[in-house]
Amino acid sequence: MTLPVAVLVSGRGSNLQSILDACASETVDARVVLVLSNREGVPALGRAERAGVPHAVFAMRDKSERAATHAAMAQAIANAGARLVVLAGFDHILAPSFFVALPGVPVINLHPALLPLFGGRGMHGDRVHEAVLRSGATESGCTVHRVHPETVDLGEVIVQRRVPILPADDAVALSARVLEQEHIAIVEAIRRFTPVPNLI
Ligand code: GRF
Repeated sequence: MTLPVAVLVSGRGSNLQSILDACASETVDARVVLVLSNREGVPALGRAERAGVPHAVFAMRDKSERAATHAAMAQAIANAGARLVVLAGFDHILAPSFFVALPGVPVINLHPALLPLFGGRGMHGDRVHEAVLRSGATESGCTVHRVHPETVDLGEVIVQRRVPILPADDAVALSARVLEQEHIAIVEAIRRFTPVPNLI
């Protein structure tokens, strides 16, 4: 059975594109059944639209709506029949209500550094790459890991890919080098969840 996947996004969606392309070319035996965004009008939604994948926005006005909004997202994912949830550039921390509504469905996230290094609350986007460069590290990379309720960047590592840090690097150069590897790592990680076991 082809793995039905839901992808959560917040912005550019280049990793979503990599997943869509891999599914279309059958590089991975998976199919994106739903794309959900927490922001209106982001490029990732256009990518879903062009690929003919159902997509929706679940925005919230303030944090008091977090539990209900995330529960509604999970319900939409369950209704779409997804058996894996991929956070690909999704910039909210999922409420426990999300996981409650999707028992047995793994959730995975992509992080632009070699966890457990340079992860945790507040470590996203260029902040990650700036911290890596400040540390004097000689390599960085990306990590795909499991997501559990109320933890940030702490779940089991599924795939890591490494890149060298070059002397002239700034955050822009390093993030571009890491992003190329993210596009490969996210597909590799999804492949680990195939083939789908038959439900008894
Ligand atoms: C990636 O760097 C990912 O690691 C991080 O957010 C970025 C998303 O990029 N979580 P894109 O939206 O997939 O292009």
